Amino acid sequence: MLREPSYLDEHVTQSREDGKQAQVLGKVIPYILRYPKSLVFSLISIVIASLTVLGVGAGLRYFVDDGFSEGSTLGLASSLLGLFIIICFMALSSYGRLYWVSQLSERVIVDLRNDIFSHLLKQSVSFFETTSLGEIQSRLTTDTTLLQIVLATSIPIALRNMLIVVGGLIMLILTSPILTGIITVIIPLILIPILVYGKKVQRYSQLAQEKTADIAVRLDETFGAIRTVFAFCRESYMSLLFSRQVENTYQASLKRIEARARLTALVMILVFTGISAVLWFGGLRVLKGQMSPGHLSAFLFYAAAVAGAAGSLSEIYGDILRAAGGVERIFEFLSLKPRITVSDNSQHLPYPIKGHLQFEDVNFAYPARPHRLVLKDISFEVTKGETVALVGPSGVGKTTIFNLLMRFYDPLNGQILFDGIPLEKLELHTLREAIGLVPQEPFLFSTTLYENIRFGNLSASNDDIQKAAKAAYADEFIESLPEGYHTQVGEKGITLSGGQRQRIAIARTILKNPSLLLLDEATSALDTESEQIVQKALASLKHDRTTLIIAHRLSTIAAADRVIVLNQGKIKATGTYEALNQQIGDVSGLRAS
Ligand SMILES: Nc1ncnc2c1ncn2[C@@H]1O[C@H](COP(=O)(O)OP(=O)(O)O)[C@@H](O)[C@H]1O
Ligand SMILES: [Mg+2]
Repeated sequence: MLREPSYLDEHVTQSREDGKQAQVLGKVIPYILRYPKSLVFSLISIVIASLTVLGVGAGLRYFVDDGFSEGSTLGLASSLLGLFIIICFMALSSYGRLYWVSQLSERVIVDLRNDIFSHLLKQSVSFFETTSLGEIQSRLTTDTTLLQIVLATSIPIALRNMLIVVGGLIMLILTSPILTGIITVIIPLILIPILVYGKKVQRYSQLAQEKTADIAVRLDETFGAIRTVFAFCRESYMSLLFSRQVENTYQASLKRIEARARLTALVMILVFTGISAVLWFGGLRVLKGQMSPGHLSAFLFYAAAVAGAAGSLSEIYGDILRAAGGVERIFEFLSLKPRITVSDNSQHLPYPIKGHLQFEDVNFAYPARPHRLVLKDISFEVTKGETVALVGPSGVGKTTIFNLLMRFYDPLNGQILFDGIPLEKLELHTLREAIGLVPQEPFLFSTTLYENIRFGNLSASNDDIQKAAKAAYADEFIESLPEGYHTQVGEKGITLSGGQRQRIAIARTILKNPSLLLLDEATSALDTESEQIVQKALASLKHDRTTLIIAHRLSTIAAADRVIVLNQGKIKATGTYEALNQQIGDVSGLRAS
């Protein structure tokens, strides 16, 4: 799908380049601090976890030295008991880490998702025109999941490992300063090649991941447009495209697998070389009686713990950086300012609402195409209770007038008044509550007919809904469905016909009971019979309300109190149907979809 580059694109690519810093994770801290109890328990279990790892080393020393050398079973038993106690602590802290940390991270993600969602609902229509749904989805799902994993595993493990490295180094020095001196040379010799090669593996993993993401896009396109694919008999063609992509993914994974296998072999050789070196130097000292076997065992243990912890720290850092990218994008979303602004002293509509409209010299261009004026110097007035038809060729700006009335966008200049108050001074919801918009292609949610109609007024009873459906000439077809009003309409109402969907939308608007009606009349989707029914439904909706109707049918145009003829973004003529017919000839000739 082609689209204009969005505000986010610019910012996100930038942040991917220079913002990949672990510091952005700090933005999550306020979310974590909301749960001090979980946080404290999490930290305690992390500290205990690292202490117990270090404790195992000490236990090992007693086990080897006292357990065996004293020659008594008592020594063996008591050192085993000590080891067992340490293991119990380890298990307890593992439980704490797994439970409290995971619970905390899940909680944070819930809060973040809620915040993102409600923040998105504050954005204007134009934001959603320049931001793809996929982008929004991946913020809410992929990025937050990535963050959750990092919060639940990477960060706690990183903390634990840091403690192990620091504590382990202290224990190493305490156990044998000389051997510690030796391994400070050996450990880097082992770690550096592993880290360098590990980076390569990481790059391959990333590549493989990107290829996998491409598959998702292909799936979306193929099955989202399945009718088009079937209609053109492009099944095998799509399969070909897909298999090429899957093959690419395989090749990318193969590289990663190969590199990972080599890395594992490399690690084994290097680690064993390192251990042999320590055993050699340590063994010499044991043979000379400068060190006990237990000390050597403990030393080996600490050296392995420190090296292991330090090694995985760099790997974890990679994960954290990846999540940092996601966090950056999440907070990019959360810092967006809504484009439709409401003045601080916004007003409510004076009661009773009349539904009186004025356009005064309105000029408008869509944000996506700022240099193309869609509406030029539009001025007109619609008084209470009047029905006015908007007529003009397709693309002239009829729907745009509705968009401005709903304040989906603001005019470039000129102003629009509702009951004498400029729209930008009106509280946004008061305005939108007062208007009933039946769009050309109404949207139904994938729920029951009851709930779809109730969307117009959440406090409406089932009785009210049935009345509204009757008035919208929708009850007949609804009752003929096996499950009646409880029928699920499918995604976007796909199980209903165009005319049926429209009548549901009309019933929804009847339930809303607005003072001003905006009808975007659709004919192309309807056959003559359902057209007539929709027409009747619209008539019962118009009753007593100010109505602005985008009209295509001659009957609608002729029945309106007044007709406004638009041409090339301007008002060409206005007057009653009869007057206009005499003035400019065939008004109905101007109708188009
Ligand atoms: N969201 C949008 N962004 C940019 N241009 C738009 C948008 N919606 C409509 N347009 C353009 O504005 C013009 C008027 O559109 P519209 O008001 O929908 O016409 P119609 O009179 O058929 O209802 C068209 O040329 C259309 O291409
Ligand atoms: Mg239109």
